[in-house]
Amino acid sequence: MKNREFYLLADFVYENFGIKVSNSKMNIFEMKISKLMKSAGVNSVEEYYTLLKLAKDKKMLTDLLNEVTINKTDFFREINHFNFIRDNIVDIMKKNRRIDIHKEIRVWSSACSSGEEPYTIAMILKEYLPPQITIKILATDISQRVLNIAVKGRYKSVVKTQVPPIFLSKYFIKKGDEYEVVEDIKKLITFRSFNLKENFPFKSTFDIIFCRNVMIYFDNNFHEELARKFHQYLNHGGLLFIGHSESLSHVKHSLEYVQPTVYRRK
Ligand SMILES: C[S@@+](CC[C@H](N)C(=O)[O-])C[C@H]1O[C@@H](n2cnc3c(N)ncnc32)[C@H](O)[C@@H]1O
Repeated sequence: MKNREFYLLADFVYENFGIKVSNSKMNIFEMKISKLMKSAGVNSVEEYYTLLKLAKDKKMLTDLLNEVTINKTDFFREINHFNFIRDNIVDIMKKNRRIDIHKEIRVWSSACSSGEEPYTIAMILKEYLPPQITIKILATDISQRVLNIAVKGRYKSVVKTQVPPIFLSKYFIKKGDEYEVVEDIKKLITFRSFNLKENFPFKSTFDIIFCRNVMIYFDNNFHEELARKFHQYLNHGGLLFIGHSESLSHVKHSLEYVQPTVYRRK
């Protein structure tokens, strides 16, 4: 692949998905693109690019997206966020009176992958929030492939190593070799496809937003834009959790720093 061709496609990925393909990944990106071109029956990068731009073939876009996103996730990943909620539930409700007044908590898992993150949030809130508070979780991801897994809520037995035994017995049903999330937890979550690059279409604001392990793929301008939008879509006293290898220290934002990877709307 010529440099010009690399930048053509890398810019396309950035413009459409917000994902930065760095020059150091040029070789691996080239390999992925040749595989995609082969399966689409296309011979030149130019032709492939033109077809992508026309976006006539939705599958081509989805296939490209699946190659450039990494969907790695786990239940109880970066557990100190969930411990933070457990240990500060009274303070969270004190700083954000809306939760108690409306008797509901609205959470957004904004890059939810195959569902492990929103299901963990649901289990933690169900366990530690006062029972009269209704839990509403919106879980979104750009990739329909992972969302299909999330909606099913059925996972391989590796969940046994991720989910504490007490949660496993309470919130999962063993089905053959797999574990399925119970209906009581599933019904707290609405899964939708959403690209963080798009305008936020929400009519209501959130009490907690999770945006973890996805900003690493975005550049600083996009970090700043997201921080501004998250601020706008958080209720006063609401919390933002970002991934442990992510930070907002390099961008302008109006959120209050609570502790590493945890921010609050003042
Ligand atoms: C590494 S996973 C992180 C999953 C989960 N948040 C966690 O921390 O375990 C990153 C997810 O971000 C999604 N993603 C990438 N770009 C996106 C975008 N522009 N809009 C929404 N989701 C995106 C990917 O499809 C992938 O499922």
